[in-house]
Amino acid sequence: MHEQSVKVTIVGAGSVGVTTAYALLLSGLASEIVLLDIDQARAEGEAIDLSHAAHYAHAKVRVASSYADCAGSTIVIITAGVNQKPGQTRLDLVKTNYALFRTVVPEVARNAPDTILLVATNPVDVLTHAAFELSGFPVQRVIGSGTAMDTTRFRHELGKHYGVNPRNVHAVIIGEHGDSQIPVWSLASIAGMRLRDYCSQKGIAYDDAAMTEVARRTRGAAYEIIQRKGKTNYGVASVLVSIVEPIVKNSDAIVTVSRVGIYEGVGPVALSMPCKLNYRGAHQDVPLLLDAAEREGVKKSAQSILDVIVSAKGG
Ligand SMILES: NC(=O)c1ccc[n+]([C@@H]2O[C@H](COP(=O)([O-])OP(=O)(O)OC[C@H]3O[C@@H](n4cnc5c(N)ncnc54)[C@H](O)[C@@H]3O)[C@@H](O)[C@H]2O)c1
Repeated sequence: MHEQSVKVTIVGAGSVGVTTAYALLLSGLASEIVLLDIDQARAEGEAIDLSHAAHYAHAKVRVASSYADCAGSTIVIITAGVNQKPGQTRLDLVKTNYALFRTVVPEVARNAPDTILLVATNPVDVLTHAAFELSGFPVQRVIGSGTAMDTTRFRHELGKHYGVNPRNVHAVIIGEHGDSQIPVWSLASIAGMRLRDYCSQKGIAYDDAAMTEVARRTRGAAYEIIQRKGKTNYGVASVLVSIVEPIVKNSDAIVTVSRVGIYEGVGPVALSMPCKLNYRGAHQDVPLLLDAAEREGVKKSAQSILDVIVSAKGG
């Protein structure tokens, strides 16, 4: 049982929202999970179904009747919005989801003024930026799932290539959760060794073409999944729980999440960098030591997100 109550509200009880609720329920991190959706009947059905699973997980699951039910949430996860259709980029969703945020975020902020906002709706960087502006919250309390998902996929691909557990691969994707993302090759390591050193110790050649393919598969993973099943949900749900965990446990874990800042002189704009997560939110304490090409990549990524923000705001 929980020493102190942890309430998590999920706005958007669709595929991502409900899979996240289920993963969160099984994690035991929350004592109360509230689902809020404009489709009240669907949210009710999901909450009843989940509450039967909650029987085994010692948490309450209920449906919100209005935004007033966000009050007292430690974290409000926003997964409401349209998702990509096969062939669409995340940026194609911007107009619809930006308009949705204009109604959702002020309501959440008014009813849960001390909460941490965790945005998953795409395009996630643009909408994390929107959530920051529309909530009036300090930057550290508005977090986007950002490239936490891509970083997981990157480690998965590298682990597969080198035949090691992805947990022993230290490598991050930064920048946009989208096509301009940057794999940080200069810092990627396995078992404490940079990739080239790891290869030479192992007596194998560092394979540039294979690494390009790893980056391509990481960047294209969502397209591949959506092409086949029409959506992504399990990966992102696990990633959202991995962001919730260090916040509610106040554990200072470092996760690559999106946050508003100035990046390579561009901004303010939301994009992903490794951030320390605790009960006060996401903190960018130590800037990454990037090489010149990676810094240039961040600058381009920041500018492309900023351009979309400006056009989404009608500027
Ligand atoms: N960040 C990531 O890594 C990641 C991964 C997968 C999906 N996503 C994004 O998450 C979002 C949701 O995807 P999904 O597959 O769950 O879609 P979905 O269509 O299954 O669910 C969306 C839900 O939002 C609800 N909704 C719409 N407008 C609302 C409003 N004003 N208030 C409350 N609820 C509202 C809908 O009723 C629906 O239940 C999409 O934008 C998608 O691109 C992000």
